[in-house]
Amino acid sequence: NVDLLFREMGLTMAPLLARRGIRLLWEASGEKLTADRELVKSLLYNLVDNAAKASKEGEEVLLSCVKGEGTVILSVSDWGIGMDEKTVRRATEAFYMADKSRSRKNGGAGLGLALCARIAEMHGAQLRIKSAPGQGTTVFLAFPETPPAEPEGGEST
Ligand SMILES: Nc1ncnc2c1ncn2[C@@H]1O[C@H](COP(=O)(O)OP(=O)(O)OP(=O)(O)O)[C@@H](O)[C@H]1O
Ligand SMILES: [Mg+2]
Repeated sequence: NVDLLFREMGLTMAPLLARRGIRLLWEASGEKLTADRELVKSLLYNLVDNAAKASKEGEEVLLSCVKGEGTVILSVSDWGIGMDEKTVRRATEAFYMADKSRSRKNGGAGLGLALCARIAEMHGAQLRIKSAPGQGTTVFLAFPETPPAEPEGGEST
């Protein structure tokens, strides 16, 4: 139940963002998703964290969900600093950060999106980033409506 998932994430994270003057909003969709709930929560947590770090006081971060063709698409949008093409291409690489000083400012390591990409892969989901400098960013996660029988790329332990 995506509405319940967003509500749970929203209620947990909104107070953290509010401390920095950023509003977290989420839209009801009535969609359903078959996925590992805890993994999808850590995925959204990382995307909302990134969106908040890219935003300044008075801006908003939005969680949405729409139905695609055979997919359910979750997205996290911000209207913050955005990324150039090179950053978009490299953002899911482990340890990649466009602004190295950001690690000192925000305590990041450049691992969040690498983790998100791995979680998406395990669910057979596509991760796409739409971004432009100064115009903000939307990260889309297209989950297959019918999930893969076995988590893809999982270790067999
Ligand atoms: N919403 C966004 N807006 C602008 N730049 C972003 C956004 N999300 C990611 N980035 C860029 O992609 C880089 C990699 O993101 P990632 O989440 O992997 O690392 P991080 O947030 O810097 O550190 P960590 O997630 O480990 O705390 C970021 O350092 C930033 O340059
Ligand atoms: Mg991050």
